[in-house]
Amino acid sequence: MNQTGGIGHDQWKTRFGFMLAAMGSAVGLGNIWRFSYVAGENGGATFLLIYLFFTLLIGIPLLLTEFSIGKAGKMDAVGSFKKLAPNTKWHLTGLMGVVGGILILSFYTVVSGWSLFYLYRYLTGAYWTEPDGGFGAAFDSWIASPIAPLFWQGLFLVATILIVMQGIKKGIERANNVFMPALAVLMILLAVYGLTLEGAKDGLAFLFTPDWSQLTNPSIYFMAMGQAFFSLSIGICGMLTYSSYLKEKDRLPAATVGIGIMDTVFAVIAGVMIFTAVFSFDVDPSSGPPLVFITLPSIFASMPAGNVVGIVFFILLTMAAFSSAISLLELPVAYFHRTLGFTRKAATLIIGSIVFVLGVAASLGFGIWGGVQLGGNNIMDMMDNLTANIILPLGGLLMVLFVGYYLTKEQAIKNSELETPFLQSAWYLLIRYIIPVIMVVILVGSLFGII
Ligand code: PHE
Repeated sequence: MNQTGGIGHDQWKTRFGFMLAAMGSAVGLGNIWRFSYVAGENGGATFLLIYLFFTLLIGIPLLLTEFSIGKAGKMDAVGSFKKLAPNTKWHLTGLMGVVGGILILSFYTVVSGWSLFYLYRYLTGAYWTEPDGGFGAAFDSWIASPIAPLFWQGLFLVATILIVMQGIKKGIERANNVFMPALAVLMILLAVYGLTLEGAKDGLAFLFTPDWSQLTNPSIYFMAMGQAFFSLSIGICGMLTYSSYLKEKDRLPAATVGIGIMDTVFAVIAGVMIFTAVFSFDVDPSSGPPLVFITLPSIFASMPAGNVVGIVFFILLTMAAFSSAISLLELPVAYFHRTLGFTRKAATLIIGSIVFVLGVAASLGFGIWGGVQLGGNNIMDMMDNLTANIILPLGGLLMVLFVGYYLTKEQAIKNSELETPFLQSAWYLLIRYIIPVIMVVILVGSLFGII
């Protein structure tokens, strides 16, 4: 629109700033909240091993594929496909990503709102000791209440909107430059504290000593795959959008590997932090999604300096959620701004309102709308399943097919910016044959309800 900083002109100031923002997107509730309960329910170390394997074999090559589309297309989720494949239907991949981003953000803000509320409870001292009736009852009645969660969810969303409104350099890059280092320091502090606890050894054994017999359990593979996708933020064009703001000279491959490794390191450190505590206090590691909101608070209440640990933990969880929410909002905003021509401000406000309304539905699904269910899933579960099990893998599949089959080999390799012939061939082989086959198996598996 305007000449300076208008459509398509905003860029990352540095490649490092881009890396921090992409790590900020990757590291989120997925690493701490989702990873810990999915790993806890699926055998710990065995799950971790398969998850690492998928991250290396599929996650990182796919992340490079997604980045390569955005950097070459230099536009939003839809616009990049339109530019690279004019007069085709490939841009529907981007549109599906936009819808997926809006859906994920809708339930993501609900859980982030819980986290913000818990932070408030810790800051005021309300949760330093077990409330009457216990943490379980307190959590259940809180998420079921009609108004209060909406307030915290709204507050979190407003903060996200305010950052995204300011654009790439001034909003998103600046915020992540603060969050990511802070996040790393806090998480390492908590993990080190966890290691000093008495039962730390058992927690480490749970996380790092695989039970090989579990390898024959198919659901572990599906869960590990879904977790790798969700955690790396791949398949819905959020990462594509971020890479479109790179400068020409900023190379992709090393940044991609760095982002993939950091996301995984964060997941492992979060695992150490959580499972050392869980095992020291003899709690069942498979306590499911409430692990972070029920199990940990009761551990904090009986641990030395647990109130400080609680405060630090919920600052960490809220910040991690915040930097991911920013990337989830930027994805549809970029489409409305760059392809549809809305101003960034209008785009942010429109999408923010849609997200809020959908989020209200997700939140009420724990209370007065608890009757709205599909196959035993409430509204949030439906949004989670539709995105993590269908939209993310389908988006990932379409992207590898696009780069592997629609683009020529020369274009694909040039856009990937891989330099050595060995890496070029290995990556191309993965995205043309290996990844599509695995993705189809996962998708068919999830459609038939194996997950
Ligand atoms: N990767 C984020 C997390 O781990 C979630 C996310 C998914 C963010 C997809 C952006 C896109 O919490």
